[in-house]
Amino acid sequence: MSGQQVRVAVVGTGPWWGRQHAIAFSTRTDARLCAVVGRTRARTEERAAEFGVPGYVDVDDMLAREKPDLVAVCLPNEGHFEPTLRIIRAGFPLLVEKPLVFDLDQADQLLTEAAGRELFFAINFNHRYAKPVQLAREAVDAGVLGRLTFATWRFGGEPGTSAHRYANLIETQCHGLDMLEHLCGPVSSVMAQMTDACSTLSVALRFENGAVGSLLGTYDSSYSYPDTHRLELNGLDGRVVVEDTVRRYTYTPAGHEISSVWQAGYFNDRERDFHATFDRYLDALLPAFVAGEPPPVPATAGRRALQLGHRIIESFETGTRVDAPR
Ligand SMILES: NC(=O)c1ccc[n+]([C@@H]2O[C@H](COP(=O)([O-])OP(=O)(O)OC[C@H]3O[C@@H](n4cnc5c(N)ncnc54)[C@H](OP(=O)(O)O)[C@@H]3O)[C@@H](O)[C@H]2O)c1
Repeated sequence: MSGQQVRVAVVGTGPWWGRQHAIAFSTRTDARLCAVVGRTRARTEERAAEFGVPGYVDVDDMLAREKPDLVAVCLPNEGHFEPTLRIIRAGFPLLVEKPLVFDLDQADQLLTEAAGRELFFAINFNHRYAKPVQLAREAVDAGVLGRLTFATWRFGGEPGTSAHRYANLIETQCHGLDMLEHLCGPVSSVMAQMTDACSTLSVALRFENGAVGSLLGTYDSSYSYPDTHRLELNGLDGRVVVEDTVRRYTYTPAGHEISSVWQAGYFNDRERDFHATFDRYLDALLPAFVAGEPPPVPATAGRRALQLGHRIIESFETGTRVDAPR
């Protein structure tokens, strides 16, 4: 590390989220961007010039020359496995984008190889760090909802570029599966319905604590619609609603007609900004990394979301309820 700054290399030069990684690390006081890695030389050089860092089109070359403290992997959804394995085998700590991968055996291989090298191996489930979600977690921890009876999650918009039949479930609803367990505890079983193309899905869930849940995910909608994301936790003593991840948190005690609402104030651009959920996650991740502690959201959380995804696929393909033990 140089001084107190963690030197981070970003692998992936995507115009939206890869660039967001570069912005995040280059604008912090506790980290600095030391290199970017892309696939196309011209695009990589453009990104490197924008941030004033060296650009590489070969991960191994970058690792050998730059020796970053931490590698952030932000590659197309279906292209995570091979580069991640390479970085792990080279012995570098890493933060990877969701989904971990699409295949459970590949997930296990990555986790086993990283554990064998005692590597810091984090996944970016940044939705957990949205202000309304943190308030929801505080409400759950404080017990103000009472016994949880149901939870609902709805999220979706336009499709991306993945060819995988269950792309929406695995690469996008991993956030929902992670979130529901983060707030409600372990899922014990699942039952699924999907459209013919599997691009819209509805899943009935049961949690170990006896509550039930529903997850509606889609690539046949639009992120331009207001209320494209909604999360609801209903307990016997109160209800929490999170709208559009960062837009609004509402808590209403059962039987009361007056609610407590959080929404970002006039000058509070940071907490109304979805992209800043990544910065808020880094606020927790980087100190943990520097202190030699485990990641606040370890890659095993990505494996668990993937495991639930595969149980949901099994339920849909067999037309049965499927148990989902960890
Ligand atoms: N956590 C969140 O909230 C969030 C939000 C959005 C996206 N994401 C995740 O972020 C990841 C990337 O998304 P994106 O939208 O940036 O993807 P993208 O637009 O498809 O961009 C991927 C970039 O990676 C480059 N690339 C492809 N293969 C490569 C390789 N082997 N080595 C180096 N570079 C390679 C491509 O280079 P070329 O341009 O040269 O082809 C492209 O620039 C995905 O996993 C996605 O799920 C997460």
